[in-house]
Amino acid sequence: MKVKRFSSMDDLYSHAVATIVEAKNNGATTFGLATGGTMEPLYAKICKTDIDFSHCISFNLDEYVGLEATHQQSYAYYMNKHLFNQKPFLASYLPDGLAVDPLVETARYEGLLQQYPLDFQLLGIGQNGHIGFNEPGTSFASLTHLVTLEESTRQANARFFSSIDEVPTQAYTMGIQSIMRAKCILLLAVGEAKREVLERLLASDYTEDVPATALSKHPNVMVLTDLQEEENKL
Ligand code: F6R
Repeated sequence: MKVKRFSSMDDLYSHAVATIVEAKNNGATTFGLATGGTMEPLYAKICKTDIDFSHCISFNLDEYVGLEATHQQSYAYYMNKHLFNQKPFLASYLPDGLAVDPLVETARYEGLLQQYPLDFQLLGIGQNGHIGFNEPGTSFASLTHLVTLEESTRQANARFFSSIDEVPTQAYTMGIQSIMRAKCILLLAVGEAKREVLERLLASDYTEDVPATALSKHPNVMVLTDLQEEENKL
């Protein structure tokens, strides 16, 4: 796992854009995408470039259960607002939060991912180490599945809703194995709240208690962070 630390957020996000452009120039056409606060400046920057995704396919990591695509907190809405309206892809897939049968929906999504293997996966990270919505304890062998969100995750995401009661309790997410199949992974860990989990990740732990540590066995992961190494740490 390679790590690059930045003292300027602008440099960090410029580097992230450059990494995506390089992947595209090297032939990547299938992109796994993430949502969340970390990704907003990245998508804003991408929208200011002339990067063209019109021959590419995107897959989002996750979607809340119970929110329709037009709901302002659905990830479908987020993606349209922050990226797809300005930078359309040939096709963009997300799990369907309103699917009637979770087993059918997860099999459908996983089937699409196997049909169009991911060349590139973008990841944020939760304070508890989640990637996608794979909460601590998720099997590293997991495929796309339905999850019950941890209370800490609902609280962290409550800032996007008018109250915590409105935060859905379940979501669909790509599994850890679905994510690990991507050829190349770019993880952004931004902000002081991510310090502890980043340290755990970089310590090369490998434990299902911290889902992101699965990445330590992936051959091509780049982590970008604004967190500097703590000096004089005893
Ligand atoms: C979102 C996702 C999540 C977020 C993580 C960090 O699609 O997959 O794993 O990346 O919760 O969220 P922020 O960036 O809001 O701190």
